[in-house]
Amino acid sequence: MLQMKSSEKFIVKIENLAEEPYDEVLCYPKPDEIEVKKRIAELKELGVESLEFTGGKRVSNVPVLGKGCVGIVVVAHLKSGERVALKIRRVDADRVNMKHEAEMLAKANDVGVGPKLLTSTDNFLLMQYIEGELFPEWLNKTEDADLIRQVLRELLEQCFRLDNIGLDHGELSNASKHLIITENGKPYIIDFETASANRRTANLTSLAQYLLIKKPISNKIHEKIGKIDTKQLIEALREYKKEKSAENFEKVLKMCKLA
Ligand SMILES: Nc1ncnc2c1ncn2[C@@H]1O[C@H](COP(=O)(O)OP(=O)(O)O)[C@@H](O)[C@H]1O
Ligand SMILES: [Mg+2]
Repeated sequence: MLQMKSSEKFIVKIENLAEEPYDEVLCYPKPDEIEVKKRIAELKELGVESLEFTGGKRVSNVPVLGKGCVGIVVVAHLKSGERVALKIRRVDADRVNMKHEAEMLAKANDVGVGPKLLTSTDNFLLMQYIEGELFPEWLNKTEDADLIRQVLRELLEQCFRLDNIGLDHGELSNASKHLIITENGKPYIIDFETASANRRTANLTSLAQYLLIKKPISNKIHEKIGKIDTKQLIEALREYKKEKSAENFEKVLKMCKLA
């Protein structure tokens, strides 16, 4: 078995992905020779030259950016030299392809939300690589109250824009794995796999609850930026839910002391 430090990173050409343990990352959780070959060909068509194994999570003892129910996310190097994020569909995912996620992400991109979508195929989705930390880790390390306020405001604004176009993210009430904050404080909402354009939207209400009402995150935020009146916030969110107007959104921001 390979032994690696978490800071370690290495680059593997796509032709070599058929070898252990990379085949398991490409066809997680169960590699299959035919499927591995098919996927390598698919990557070639996408202009992917190599994969960069780095990140805080591990799959088959290989470092990756992330792992979810649908995909394994790694850094990919394109022929153009660009470094991008590649989401690899798990072979056990309950989705036959990445089309839905690509469509939802494209809609989010229209209002400046989410990593930029590059392309997608049946098994892969290529998008902008967001170098940063997941929100809970970022919050633990960050003490600058103004910066925290700025990030919260930007996140709530992104939610308002998603609400406006009728796109519901679907996983913002427990957003611990779905918000990445970059080093210079730009927040990104990620993972539009469970998003829908046919559902009543609840982006702002869900994320405001996760950040400012639910424990443990809300406690930490209140400690760092000051207490807010959660009763009044809940009331403002209730009004917003009835009518998702700019005016009601402003009231929510006020109650969060972000206006
Ligand atoms: N564009 C990206 N840039 C950097 N890291 C990402 C990106 N997309 C996803 N990740 C990382 O990979 C993890 C899993 O991705 P996600 O899209 O949530 O997969 P799943 O749909 O399987 O849950 C995320 O929690 C995040 O840590
Ligand atoms: Mg996810």
